[in-house]
Amino acid sequence: MKHEVIEKNVGLLALLMVLAVSVGGLTQIVPLFFQDVTNKPVEGMKPYTALQLEGRDIYIREGCVGCHSQMIRPFRAETERYGHYSVAGESVWDHPFLWGSKRTGPDLARVGGRYSDDWHRAHLYNPRNVVPESKMPSYPWLVAHEVDNSHTDGKMRALRTLGVPYSDADIAGARDAVKGHTEMDALVAYLQVLGTAIKNKR
Ligand code: HEC
Repeated sequence: MKHEVIEKNVGLLALLMVLAVSVGGLTQIVPLFFQDVTNKPVEGMKPYTALQLEGRDIYIREGCVGCHSQMIRPFRAETERYGHYSVAGESVWDHPFLWGSKRTGPDLARVGGRYSDDWHRAHLYNPRNVVPESKMPSYPWLVAHEVDNSHTDGKMRALRTLGVPYSDADIAGARDAVKGHTEMDALVAYLQVLGTAIKNKR
């Protein structure tokens, strides 16, 4: 039997396995590179402002992604709680994306607009201020430090090479837009824009 030949020949078996997995993988993955639904930003989406972009880098620096996902799955239990499920077009300008997978805290993909700026400030300064039972860490130093704006324009230029549509004016004004703001300002500005390209429709 031909099958016996394959089963008794480890090298051939491995080769055919790799081939089968590759074909399966490629037929699923390759089309995604050419589909509008995965490549095109959702309608009306704007790139992060300079301040939001710096806020995003603080989110990365502080490891928020270690406890918070930004990926609402298309299940009722998720959409009832968080709003419209995440779509690929919302992440096309995120480099790197921060979907995450660990949910020690709630998903943040659509937290923008859910709370006031003041709520976020009080919460980030010490989560127990507003959620007594919270076990999220406090981030009091965010109010003590101004955002380092020495690379803001460079970051935007780098993102532009990856397809984020920043204008020359955006880049030229980047350092000034961030200047004098605290890291708390930047992080809150970032949180408040999350998920707002698609309104929280159910
Ligand atoms: C050790 C895990 C952990 C880390 C790290 C963490 N969080 Fe949280 N976060 C939580 C938990 C648990 C909650 C739920 C209780 C609460 O609201 O404080 C929460 C709640 C939140 C909420 C409210 C979400 C909602 O829908 O009610 C926001 C906003 C938030 N975190 C932002 C952040 C940001 C920004 C960072 C990084 C600076 C961060 N978190 C880091 C665990 C964490």
